[in-house]
Amino acid sequence: SPKPLIVVGSVNADLVLPIERLPKPGETLAAASIETVPGGKGANQAAAAARAGYPTFFVGQFGRDDPNAALLRNALLGCGVDLAHAAEVEGPCGTALILLQAGGENSIIIVGGANQAAWKLSDGVKALIAGAGAVLLQREIPEPVNVEVAKLAAAAGVPVILDAGGVEGPIDPAILPCLTLLSPNETELARLTGLPTDSEAQVQAAAEKLMSAGVKSVLVKLGADGSLLLPGPGQPPLRQAAIKAAQVVDTTGAGDCFTATYAVAVLEGKPPAEALRFASAAASICVQRKGAMPSLPARTEVDELLSKQ
Ligand code: RIB
Repeated sequence: SPKPLIVVGSVNADLVLPIERLPKPGETLAAASIETVPGGKGANQAAAAARAGYPTFFVGQFGRDDPNAALLRNALLGCGVDLAHAAEVEGPCGTALILLQAGGENSIIIVGGANQAAWKLSDGVKALIAGAGAVLLQREIPEPVNVEVAKLAAAAGVPVILDAGGVEGPIDPAILPCLTLLSPNETELARLTGLPTDSEAQVQAAAEKLMSAGVKSVLVKLGADGSLLLPGPGQPPLRQAAIKAAQVVDTTGAGDCFTATYAVAVLEGKPPAEALRFASAAASICVQRKGAMPSLPARTEVDELLSKQ
Protein backbone atom coordinates (compact mmCIF):
# COMPACT_ATOMS: atom_id res chain seq x y z
CA SER A 1 0.00 0.00 0.00
CA PRO A 2 1.22 3.55 -0.69
CA LYS A 3 3.01 5.55 1.99
CA PRO A 4 0.49 7.93 3.59
CA LEU A 5 0.23 11.69 3.22
CA ILE A 6 0.73 13.49 6.54
CA VAL A 7 -0.97 16.86 6.91
CA VAL A 8 0.31 18.84 9.89
CA GLY A 9 -1.78 21.93 10.51
CA SER A 10 -4.83 23.75 11.78
CA VAL A 11 -8.43 22.80 12.29
CA ASN A 12 -11.11 25.47 12.74
CA ALA A 13 -14.78 25.77 13.40
CA ASP A 14 -15.82 28.16 10.62
CA LEU A 15 -18.58 30.57 11.63
CA VAL A 16 -20.04 31.55 8.29
CA LEU A 17 -22.06 34.75 7.85
CA PRO A 18 -23.53 35.24 4.37
CA ILE A 19 -23.65 38.96 3.54
CA GLU A 20 -24.19 41.05 0.40
CA ARG A 21 -20.99 43.05 0.91
CA LEU A 22 -18.52 43.95 3.65
CA PRO A 23 -19.69 46.57 6.17
CA LYS A 24 -18.00 49.98 6.03
CA PRO A 25 -16.39 51.31 9.24
CA GLY A 26 -19.19 52.31 11.61
CA GLU A 27 -21.84 50.54 9.54
CA THR A 28 -24.16 47.77 10.76
CA LEU A 29 -25.28 45.07 8.33
CA ALA A 30 -27.54 42.05 8.83
CA ALA A 31 -26.53 38.52 7.81
CA ALA A 32 -29.28 36.09 6.90
CA SER A 33 -27.85 33.27 9.04
CA ILE A 34 -24.89 31.99 11.03
CA GLU A 35 -23.64 28.47 10.46
CA THR A 36 -20.83 26.46 12.05
CA VAL A 37 -18.96 24.53 9.38
CA PRO A 38 -15.82 22.34 9.70
CA GLY A 39 -12.72 24.03 8.27
CA GLY A 40 -9.18 25.16 8.94
CA LYS A 41 -6.49 24.97 6.28
CA GLY A 42 -4.80 21.85 7.65
CA ALA A 43 -8.01 19.97 8.22
CA ASN A 44 -9.40 21.01 4.83
CA GLN A 45 -6.28 19.78 3.07
CA ALA A 46 -6.32 16.47 4.92
CA ALA A 47 -10.00 16.03 4.11
CA ALA A 48 -9.46 16.92 0.44
CA ALA A 49 -6.68 14.34 0.08
CA ALA A 50 -8.67 11.63 1.83
CA ARG A 51 -11.78 12.40 -0.23
CA ALA A 52 -9.57 12.10 -3.32
CA GLY A 53 -8.85 8.57 -2.18
CA TYR A 54 -5.36 8.87 -0.70
CA PRO A 55 -4.46 7.43 2.75
CA THR A 56 -4.08 10.55 4.89
CA PHE A 57 -3.27 11.37 8.51
CA PHE A 58 -4.14 14.71 10.09
CA VAL A 59 -1.76 15.86 12.81
CA GLY A 60 -3.37 18.81 14.56
CA GLN A 61 -4.75 20.02 17.86
CA PHE A 62 -8.36 20.01 19.04
CA GLY A 63 -9.50 22.06 22.05
CA ARG A 64 -10.67 19.93 24.96
CA ASP A 65 -14.14 20.80 26.31
CA ASP A 66 -15.01 22.69 23.13
CA PRO A 67 -18.36 21.44 21.83
CA ASN A 68 -17.10 22.07 18.28
CA ALA A 69 -14.32 19.49 18.71
CA ALA A 70 -16.72 16.59 18.13
CA LEU A 71 -18.14 18.24 15.00
CA LEU A 72 -14.63 18.77 13.60
CA ARG A 73 -13.42 15.26 14.45
CA ASN A 74 -16.51 13.65 12.94
CA ALA A 75 -16.22 15.70 9.76
CA LEU A 76 -12.60 14.61 9.27
CA LEU A 77 -13.37 10.98 10.08
CA GLY A 78 -16.32 11.14 7.68
CA CYS A 79 -13.94 12.21 4.91
CA GLY A 80 -11.74 9.20 5.67
CA VAL A 81 -8.93 11.04 7.48
CA ASP A 82 -6.94 9.08 10.09
CA LEU A 83 -6.92 10.98 13.40
CA ALA A 84 -4.84 8.46 15.36
CA HIS A 85 -2.06 11.03 15.79
CA ALA A 86 -4.17 14.14 16.41
CA ALA A 87 -3.84 15.79 19.83
CA GLU A 88 -6.13 17.40 22.37
CA VAL A 89 -5.11 20.48 24.35
CA GLU A 90 -6.65 22.78 26.98
CA GLY A 91 -8.96 25.55 25.79
CA PRO A 92 -11.08 26.10 22.71
CA CYS A 93 -10.58 24.88 19.14
CA GLY A 94 -9.47 27.28 16.46
CA THR A 95 -12.24 29.45 15.06
CA ALA A 96 -12.62 31.30 11.77
CA LEU A 97 -15.15 34.07 11.26
CA ILE A 98 -16.00 33.98 7.57
CA LEU A 99 -17.79 36.86 5.90
CA LEU A 100 -19.12 35.18 2.78
CA GLN A 101 -20.02 37.82 0.21
CA ALA A 102 -22.33 37.60 -2.77
CA GLY A 103 -20.36 36.09 -5.66
CA GLY A 104 -18.51 33.62 -3.44
CA GLU A 105 -15.63 35.83 -2.24
CA ASN A 106 -14.83 35.66 1.44
CA SER A 107 -13.04 37.65 4.12
CA ILE A 108 -11.75 35.62 7.07
CA ILE A 109 -10.63 36.40 10.61
CA ILE A 110 -9.10 33.53 12.56
CA VAL A 111 -8.69 32.99 16.29
CA GLY A 112 -5.89 30.46 16.77
CA GLY A 113 -7.17 28.62 19.85
CA ALA A 114 -5.75 25.09 20.05
CA ASN A 115 -3.84 25.58 16.76
CA GLN A 116 -1.66 28.20 18.45
CA ALA A 117 -1.28 26.40 21.81
CA ALA A 118 2.06 24.74 22.60
CA TRP A 119 2.85 21.77 20.33
CA LYS A 120 4.95 18.76 21.17
CA LEU A 121 5.63 16.27 18.41
CA SER A 122 5.33 12.77 19.89
CA ASP A 123 7.68 9.95 18.92
CA GLY A 124 4.73 8.41 17.10
CA VAL A 125 4.28 11.54 15.00
CA LYS A 126 8.01 11.75 14.29
CA ALA A 127 8.01 8.15 13.06
CA LEU A 128 4.91 8.83 10.97
CA ILE A 129 6.63 11.80 9.31
CA ALA A 130 9.81 9.85 8.61
CA GLY A 131 7.79 7.09 6.91
CA ALA A 132 5.43 9.35 4.94
CA GLY A 133 4.90 9.59 1.20
CA ALA A 134 4.84 13.37 1.64
CA VAL A 135 4.19 15.98 4.30
CA LEU A 136 1.81 18.88 3.68
CA LEU A 137 2.00 22.10 5.72
CA GLN A 138 0.23 25.49 5.84
CA ARG A 139 0.69 28.60 7.99
CA GLU A 140 -2.04 28.54 10.65
CA ILE A 141 0.10 26.89 13.35
CA PRO A 142 3.23 28.20 15.09
CA GLU A 143 6.03 28.59 12.56
CA PRO A 144 8.57 26.67 14.74
CA VAL A 145 6.36 23.57 14.41
CA ASN A 146 6.49 23.88 10.63
CA VAL A 147 10.27 24.28 10.80
CA GLU A 148 10.64 21.18 12.98
CA VAL A 149 8.36 19.07 10.79
CA ALA A 150 9.97 20.25 7.56
CA LYS A 151 13.45 19.46 8.86
CA LEU A 152 12.44 16.00 10.14
CA ALA A 153 10.82 15.14 6.82
CA ALA A 154 13.64 16.50 4.68
CA ALA A 155 16.22 14.62 6.76
CA ALA A 156 14.28 11.41 6.07
CA GLY A 157 14.07 12.18 2.35
CA VAL A 158 10.31 12.79 2.54
CA PRO A 159 8.92 15.44 0.14
CA VAL A 160 7.61 18.55 1.93
CA ILE A 161 4.90 20.80 0.49
CA LEU A 162 4.09 24.16 2.06
CA ASP A 163 0.85 25.91 1.19
CA ALA A 164 1.62 29.56 1.91
CA GLY A 165 -1.94 30.21 3.12
CA GLY A 166 -2.43 31.38 6.69
CA VAL A 167 -0.57 33.95 8.71
CA GLU A 168 1.03 36.90 6.93
CA GLY A 169 4.71 37.62 7.29
CA PRO A 170 7.89 36.07 6.00
CA ILE A 171 8.44 32.31 5.99
CA ASP A 172 11.25 31.18 8.30
CA PRO A 173 14.17 30.79 5.87
CA ALA A 174 15.12 27.51 7.58
CA ILE A 175 12.08 25.90 5.92
CA LEU A 176 12.86 26.88 2.34
CA PRO A 177 15.65 24.39 1.55
CA CYS A 178 13.46 21.60 2.98
CA LEU A 179 10.63 22.29 0.54
CA THR A 180 9.89 20.19 -2.51
CA LEU A 181 7.05 22.55 -3.36
CA LEU A 182 5.87 25.95 -2.17
CA SER A 183 2.33 26.89 -3.15
CA PRO A 184 1.13 30.49 -2.69
CA ASN A 185 -1.84 32.23 -4.23
CA GLU A 186 -1.28 35.56 -6.04
CA THR A 187 -1.63 37.65 -2.90
CA GLU A 188 0.69 35.45 -0.88
CA LEU A 189 3.19 35.42 -3.73
CA ALA A 190 3.23 39.22 -3.78
CA ARG A 191 3.61 39.38 -0.02
CA LEU A 192 6.40 36.81 0.13
CA THR A 193 8.46 38.35 -2.65
CA GLY A 194 7.60 42.04 -2.33
CA LEU A 195 6.95 41.98 -6.08
CA PRO A 196 3.79 42.90 -8.02
CA THR A 197 1.69 39.98 -9.32
CA ASP A 198 -0.80 41.79 -11.53
CA SER A 199 0.22 40.36 -14.90
CA GLU A 200 1.23 36.87 -16.12
CA ALA A 201 4.81 38.02 -16.58
CA GLN A 202 4.92 39.49 -13.07
CA VAL A 203 3.54 36.30 -11.54
CA GLN A 204 6.20 34.28 -13.30
CA ALA A 205 8.99 36.64 -12.26
CA ALA A 206 7.83 36.52 -8.63
CA ALA A 207 7.60 32.71 -8.70
CA GLU A 208 11.13 32.58 -10.09
CA LYS A 209 12.29 34.74 -7.21
CA LEU A 210 10.92 32.13 -4.79
CA MET A 211 12.80 29.42 -6.69
CA SER A 212 16.02 31.37 -6.33
CA ALA A 213 15.43 31.41 -2.54
CA GLY A 214 16.12 27.66 -2.57
CA VAL A 215 12.68 26.10 -3.11
CA LYS A 216 12.68 23.16 -5.59
CA SER A 217 9.37 23.98 -7.26
CA VAL A 218 6.61 26.60 -7.03
CA LEU A 219 2.90 26.24 -7.72
CA VAL A 220 0.97 29.52 -7.90
CA LYS A 221 -2.80 29.36 -7.49
CA LEU A 222 -4.47 32.05 -9.59
CA GLY A 223 -8.13 31.39 -8.79
CA ALA A 224 -10.33 31.85 -11.84
CA ASP A 225 -7.15 32.34 -13.90
CA GLY A 226 -5.92 28.82 -13.16
CA SER A 227 -2.44 27.97 -11.97
CA LEU A 228 1.24 28.23 -12.84
CA LEU A 229 3.80 25.57 -11.98
CA LEU A 230 7.54 26.07 -12.04
CA PRO A 231 8.48 22.39 -11.93
CA GLY A 232 12.17 22.83 -11.23
CA PRO A 233 15.28 24.85 -12.02
CA GLY A 234 15.76 25.16 -15.76
CA GLN A 235 12.46 23.45 -16.56
CA PRO A 236 9.81 25.31 -18.57
CA PRO A 237 6.76 26.61 -16.64
CA LEU A 238 3.45 24.80 -16.96
CA ARG A 239 0.24 26.80 -17.21
CA GLN A 240 -3.16 25.29 -16.44
CA ALA A 241 -6.41 27.16 -17.07
CA ALA A 242 -9.14 26.92 -14.45
CA ILE A 243 -11.84 24.40 -15.25
CA LYS A 244 -14.95 26.53 -15.56
CA ALA A 245 -17.47 26.41 -12.73
CA ALA A 246 -21.11 26.80 -13.78
CA GLN A 247 -21.68 28.99 -10.72
CA VAL A 248 -19.25 30.16 -8.05
CA VAL A 249 -21.08 29.80 -4.75
CA ASP A 250 -18.29 29.82 -2.14
CA THR A 251 -14.53 29.85 -2.74
CA THR A 252 -13.70 28.98 0.89
CA GLY A 253 -11.38 25.97 0.94
CA ALA A 254 -10.81 25.95 -2.83
CA GLY A 255 -7.11 26.73 -2.44
CA ASP A 256 -6.79 23.99 0.18
CA CYS A 257 -8.57 21.60 -2.17
CA PHE A 258 -6.24 22.54 -5.03
CA THR A 259 -2.97 22.08 -3.12
CA ALA A 260 -4.03 18.82 -1.49
CA THR A 261 -5.40 17.18 -4.63
CA TYR A 262 -2.29 18.24 -6.56
CA ALA A 263 -0.22 16.52 -3.87
CA VAL A 264 -2.36 13.38 -4.16
CA ALA A 265 -2.00 13.26 -7.93
CA VAL A 266 1.79 13.60 -7.69
CA LEU A 267 1.91 10.91 -4.99
CA GLU A 268 -0.05 8.67 -7.34
CA GLY A 269 2.67 9.17 -9.93
CA LYS A 270 0.78 11.44 -12.32
CA PRO A 271 3.01 13.74 -14.39
CA PRO A 272 2.84 17.44 -13.38
CA ALA A 273 0.51 18.57 -16.20
CA GLU A 274 -1.97 15.83 -15.37
CA ALA A 275 -1.72 16.58 -11.66
CA LEU A 276 -2.57 20.23 -12.39
CA ARG A 277 -5.64 19.16 -14.34
CA PHE A 278 -6.73 16.87 -11.53
CA ALA A 279 -6.40 19.65 -8.95
CA SER A 280 -8.22 22.13 -11.22
CA ALA A 281 -11.15 19.76 -11.58
CA ALA A 282 -11.35 19.22 -7.82
CA ALA A 283 -11.22 22.98 -7.10
CA SER A 284 -13.85 23.68 -9.75
CA ILE A 285 -16.28 21.34 -7.98
CA CYS A 286 -15.36 22.83 -4.59
CA VAL A 287 -16.28 26.44 -5.49
CA GLN A 288 -19.76 25.38 -6.60
CA ARG A 289 -20.71 24.30 -3.08
CA LYS A 290 -21.06 26.01 0.28
CA GLY A 291 -18.61 25.62 3.16
CA ALA A 292 -14.98 24.58 3.42
CA MET A 293 -14.81 20.90 4.31
CA PRO A 294 -18.36 20.04 3.17
CA SER A 295 -17.56 21.33 -0.33
CA LEU A 296 -14.62 18.98 -1.01
CA PRO A 297 -15.28 16.53 -3.83
CA ALA A 298 -15.10 12.74 -3.75
CA ARG A 299 -12.69 10.99 -6.13
CA THR A 300 -15.52 9.74 -8.32
CA GLU A 301 -16.76 13.31 -8.85
CA VAL A 302 -13.32 14.55 -9.90
CA ASP A 303 -12.79 11.61 -12.27
CA GLU A 304 -16.22 12.15 -13.79
CA LEU A 305 -15.62 15.86 -14.40
CA LEU A 306 -12.22 15.10 -15.97
CA SER A 307 -13.73 12.49 -18.28
CA LYS A 308 -16.08 15.18 -19.64
CA GLN A 309 -13.30 17.71 -20.40
O1 RIB B 1 -8.59 28.09 3.62
C1 RIB B 1 -9.89 28.16 4.12
C2 RIB B 1 -9.87 28.11 5.62
O2 RIB B 1 -9.21 29.24 6.10
C3 RIB B 1 -11.22 28.12 6.29
O3 RIB B 1 -11.78 26.85 6.43
C4 RIB B 1 -10.94 28.81 7.60
O4 RIB B 1 -10.94 27.95 8.70
C5 RIB B 1 -9.56 29.46 7.44
O5 RIB B 1 -8.62 28.82 8.17
